[in-house]
Amino acid sequence: MNKIYAIILAGGKGLRFGNTTPKQFLTLKNKPLIIWTLEAFNSMKSIDYIIVVSPEEYLVTIKTLISEHTITKVIQTIKGGATRQESSYNAVMSNNFNSDDILLIHDAARPFISDEIINNCIDETKKYGAAGVYVSAIDTITEIEDGFVKSIPPRKNLYYAQTPQSFKYTIIKRAHEKALQNPQNTFTDDVSLVLGTGCKVKKIEGDYNNIKITNPQDFELANWIIKKRL
Ligand code: CTP
Ligand code: MG
Repeated sequence: MNKIYAIILAGGKGLRFGNTTPKQFLTLKNKPLIIWTLEAFNSMKSIDYIIVVSPEEYLVTIKTLISEHTITKVIQTIKGGATRQESSYNAVMSNNFNSDDILLIHDAARPFISDEIINNCIDETKKYGAAGVYVSAIDTITEIEDGFVKSIPPRKNLYYAQTPQSFKYTIIKRAHEKALQNPQNTFTDDVSLVLGTGCKVKKIEGDYNNIKITNPQDFELANWIIKKRL
């Protein structure tokens, strides 16, 4: 039987957020941001195991938080890398996965992931091998080069990428290995790696509430989303 793993990437430093403590450890309402995210996956029947990636200097903190908040499905906490891609690689290589296991790779900084999206990721990955979560772009997206507008791709084809991005183990493992052959390119998501192997990736409808906390303003928005939910 294949197993379903949630890989929670919390290995970043939150440079754009600008706090000395990385944003995933800051308190959102009554608990650390990372705990909101972990609880969302831990409470799902469809998730078997959770692997958490954290900065090395926060591994003790994260273990304490996991135990204090009774996040029972965490089987491993592993150290992150210098980039998101490296953190994802460390997680994909961290365990003796079976070829048909499904890995849902999710940003720790997205605490409001819904049960429905998680289950859609699992279902579509079983069918297609790879799936990602997207919402339609709201603004006109423009490519700028050297201070001038270069191109404006038609908005109707443009989406914002969210997470989870989910894959059968063999697909994401091969994608990481291929990406390592050109180490000068680093990618900000896992679907980019998988596209590089020629594999198709199924689009899953996302949710505008599935925000990524990037800047301090996002923290205010997150508090507002929590208030609205309760
Ligand atoms: N991440 C990671 N390892 C890294 C970099 C990022 O696991 N080396 C994780 C972050 O912790 C976050 C997710 O990937 O949950 C999305 O990344 P981002 O929002 O860019 O977070 P940071 O890299 O921490 O922030 P910044 O880019 O502003 O430094
Ligand atoms: Mg980053």
